[in-house]
Amino acid sequence: MATHRSIVVLSGAGVSAESGISTFRGVNGLWNNHRIEEVASPEGFARDPDLVHRFYNLRRRQLLDPQTRPNAAHLALARLERSFPGEFMLVTQNIDDLHERAGSSRLIHMHGELLKARCGACETVAVRYDDIDSADTCGHCGARRALRPHVVWFGEMPMRLEEIYTALGGCDLFLAVGTSGHVHPAAGFVDVARRAGAATVEVNLETSVTESMFQRRILGAAAAVLPVLVDELLDGTR
Ligand code: OAD
Repeated sequence: MATHRSIVVLSGAGVSAESGISTFRGVNGLWNNHRIEEVASPEGFARDPDLVHRFYNLRRRQLLDPQTRPNAAHLALARLERSFPGEFMLVTQNIDDLHERAGSSRLIHMHGELLKARCGACETVAVRYDDIDSADTCGHCGARRALRPHVVWFGEMPMRLEEIYTALGGCDLFLAVGTSGHVHPAAGFVDVARRAGAATVEVNLETSVTESMFQRRILGAAAAVLPVLVDELLDGTR
């Protein structure tokens, strides 16, 4: 593969699937058993905060289970960041911290982070490893019943979009891994990168909604494909 100067990677739930974290769509997907509008929307939270907290508390407990560890896909992306001599940005739709645990640092959590809570009154964001209860008080401003998971819900604006679009506009390789392409704006990133002249590669277990937008598609499990693809990308830089 040609040498690149600037890489943007978009990761989705498929990257964490082999670490035991459920994806959202497909067989056993979270959205088969939970209604998005009930557990992942501001309206759902206003209606029944306890239900929403229970949903995210379960996800948080699963993430903190000692069995849940980064897999070879997370490790390969961290290696790419470490060894690639050009610009690099990893944009993840995932709210788990497995990319960080694998060693990634040039990372944007566009849909927020499960291990953080945010106060609806003072907007302070604080690390949170235990369950959040709707009766909890904000440790910063003292507001009662104001804490919510620091995640982006449907109808809300993803985080740090300006930085993401700047990177997409300047990249010459866009790689999407383990995302079904159902959710915008992330699903449109490939188009932005393409218009900026970037090469586009998709790695996914099955065909995605956006697959026709990519120049190169690799069907397979991220943990098997990424170590090889990263070797290939780094070979081009030596
Ligand atoms: P999805 O659950 O929609 O899609 C996961 C994709 O990963 C599917 O295309 C699977 O085929 C693929 N996949 C599964 N296992 C894989 C593996 N081992 N290796 C490679 N690919 C694999 O998840 P996302 O596209 O990330 O948003 O979902 C996007 C957003 O929708 C999420 O961030 C979340 C959700 O609703 C919010 O909650 C705001």
